[in-house]
Order: sequence, then structure tokens, then C-alpha cells
Amino acid sequence: MDTLENLKAELMGAVAAAADVAALEEARVAALGKKGRITGLMKEMGSLTPDERRERGQALNLLKDEVAAAIEARRGALKRAELAHRLEAERIDVSLPVRPQAEGRLHPISQTIDEMIAIFADMGFAVAEGPDIENDFNNFTALNMPPEHPARQMHDTFYLPNTADGAARVLRTHTSPVQIRTMLSQKPPIRIIAPGRTYRSDYDQTHTPMFHQVEGLVIGEDIHMGHLKGTLVEFCRAFFDLDDLPLRFRPSFFPFTEPSAEVDIGCSRKGGELKLGNHGDWLEILGCGMVHPKVLEHCGIDSTRYQGFAFGMGIERVAMLKYGIPDLRTFFEADLRWLKHYGFVPLDVPSLAQGLTR
Ligand code: PHE
Repeated sequence: MDTLENLKAELMGAVAAAADVAALEEARVAALGKKGRITGLMKEMGSLTPDERRERGQALNLLKDEVAAAIEARRGALKRAELAHRLEAERIDVSLPVRPQAEGRLHPISQTIDEMIAIFADMGFAVAEGPDIENDFNNFTALNMPPEHPARQMHDTFYLPNTADGAARVLRTHTSPVQIRTMLSQKPPIRIIAPGRTYRSDYDQTHTPMFHQVEGLVIGEDIHMGHLKGTLVEFCRAFFDLDDLPLRFRPSFFPFTEPSAEVDIGCSRKGGELKLGNHGDWLEILGCGMVHPKVLEHCGIDSTRYQGFAFGMGIERVAMLKYGIPDLRTFFEADLRWLKHYGFVPLDVPSLAQGLTR
């Protein structure tokens, strides 16, 4: 019995001394494994008398249970310690501000589109999309520009080979075909904006063959020009963050709106420097008007019951004005230094509640 007491003390000591899970496993094998100390003693019992065997067996089983329990307890303690250590070592402070040097910047066009969406979404507009490659009907005919219409010439269109069934295809020259797509697929009331790429064969200081527009379309039973005016005034003041920015609606012509207008915002050009605000001078920023009844009819909308307004705005143009970017062509040169200077931190998502640009 004495020797079992010694053995127990020895095995328990080894278990208690195990500094990690691997050392504990070694102690377990040494005591309870196939060739372990307790296992060995159990094997020797064959040579005992039945009475001796019963007594010895009970003692050894007790010892085995005690050692096994000690091992499990130790294993639990080691695991808890390991977890506590990891939790300590891998702790992160989620309340720390984002590293200002986070890699990558949002292109000013992306930022501007996000800002526009934030403003119009607040007024209840949904975002609609259409493809860059359009058919002739959506880009021209349905917008009241039948073949041979002189307004088609003004668009410097990129034509693509006809499809197999002979349909003419173009790179859309404006976002207005999204008006058509929307009215063909949705019933009024409609309230959408459609930002996206547009294409015209033109290249100089103020024109690039690919540029961006945002289209707006509102159709309902009692929509009138006052709504158009209110929407654009509200948008411009929010977008340029100027409460007293005046807007001027000048009569104009578009085949797909009647009446049509161009909108100017107030500015000053004193000293060769452009400044937005109520300063007496004017700068054109968009075209708009009441949707032409023929356009509604092309989309199967009853023009005696419904009417609405549409507008189209160049995104580069307003981004240049807002962010003081002097040259249009730099938008598309993919110069990382330019992007670092004019780009935006991706996590500063524009919202009306937080401020559009921070
Ligand atoms: N699509 C016109 C353009 O590209 C802009 C516009 C859109 C005008 C909607 C009126 C209404 O110039």
C-alpha cells in the first residue's frame, strides 16, 4: 500500500507540473497509457490469489480514477489559461478611429455619385440603371428623335455594328434612355435618378469621349414645373452646401421635354476665380423640362392622365465646381498622385445626417 501512496504522489506531481497540454498528455501516457505505470501494475495482478486480487484491484481502480480526474482537471485549467492568454494577446480596441492612412481613395466621380444618391434618396428617389450599349430606339426614337431628326447630329454618337436582327446599336449619348427603360418597365408614379457613363465622340479641354451624367425622372398625375424647380433648388443647395445659392431657369430646347429649360447657378468670376453663390453672374449646370407627351406615349403611358419632369446633369462638371478640380481630362488619366489629392477616404460615406463631405 505504501508503494501505491508513493506512486500516487509521483503521478499527481507530474500532472500538476505539466506546463502545457503536450506535457500533460505525456504524464497521462506515463500513468494510464498502454505501457503506463498503473496499467503495468494491473497486468501484474494475474499472479495474485482471488482475495488479494480483489483488494489490489479496488486500490488500483481508485488510484486510476483519481489520476484520471486530476488529469482532466489540469487539462481544463490549462485550456482556460490558454484562452485567457489569447484573449489578452489578441485584444483590439474597436473604438479606435480608423487609421487615416488606410490604403486607397474613392474617385471624385464615385464620391459625387454617392452624394447625389444621398440627397435624392432623402427626397424619395430610387436609383435606376441601364446599359452603356443602347439600342437606337431607347437612345433616340423614343425620346422624340426619329431617324433623320437634326438633334441626333448634335450628339456625336459612337455607332456599333447592328445586331443580327438588324437593330442599330450605339454607346448611349446621354442617360435619358434610362427614362425610357424605367417607363417601359414600371407604372407611374415614378421617381428615379439614373447616374452612369455616357459617350460622345469629342475630345478637348472640356470634353472627354466618356463622361458621366445623372438623369432624373418624376411621373405622376399632378406633377408640374413647380415640382421640378423645387427639386432642383433643393438639390443644388444641398449638393453645393450653400443656403443662398440662386438658380435661374432659362428657356431652352430638348426634343424630349416641353417646355424645356437650362438651369444656371449663381457665381462670380471676379479676378479670374470662379466662386459659387449669390454674386450676380451665372453658370449653366443642367438641362431639364416637362416630359414630352410623345415620350410618354412611346412608353405606353397615357399622356392625358400622367405628366412629369426630367433633368440631366453632367457629373464631372458639378464635381469640378464643388471640389475645385480645374481640368476635366485629369479625371480619366488614372494618375495615383491626382487620386491621392482629390480622392476620398472610402469609409467617409456621404449622408445628409453626417454631412456630405467631411
Ligand atoms: N439628355 C440631355 C443631354 O444630354 C439632358 C436632359 C435630360 C435634358 C432630361 C432634359 C431632360 O443634354
